[in-house]
Amino acid sequence: MDKEKLMESARAVKQAAYAPYSNFPVGAALLLKDGTVISGVNVENVSLGATNCAERTAIFTAIANGYKKGDFQAIAVSGNTADFLPPCSICRQVLAEFCSPDMPVYLTNEKKDILELPLKELLPYAFTDLEM
Ligand code: THU
Repeated sequence: MDKEKLMESARAVKQAAYAPYSNFPVGAALLLKDGTVISGVNVENVSLGATNCAERTAIFTAIANGYKKGDFQAIAVSGNTADFLPPCSICRQVLAEFCSPDMPVYLTNEKKDILELPLKELLPYAFTDLEM
């Protein structure tokens, strides 16, 4: 699947976001190596710290569906933002747990441009191993 199509999925799923506190809906589309696309949205909570971002929702859904480290091919993230919306640092850490440092992360903006970054550029020198 090409990045435009994956981003279209991320853009479309945004309508399902539960973001009544921030009014900042985010959609994510996670591409698996078997071609499956798993969606995620942000799910907020009145206790704001209980909020889950779109990227983590997608990763956690994939894990709950039996996918493992090494099964992930790319992720696209879409918000209604003028500039490219980057994943938060907690989501970067969760991505680093399951995805290759070279995995492409696709970001977009209101003009629908797509910025492609490898995960390792979003999270350099990642903490991924207790055996240091
Ligand atoms: N959010 C995401 O879901 N993904 C991001 O990449 C950035 C932020 C959510 C969390 C919260 O529900 C809202 O956006 C505002 O921070």
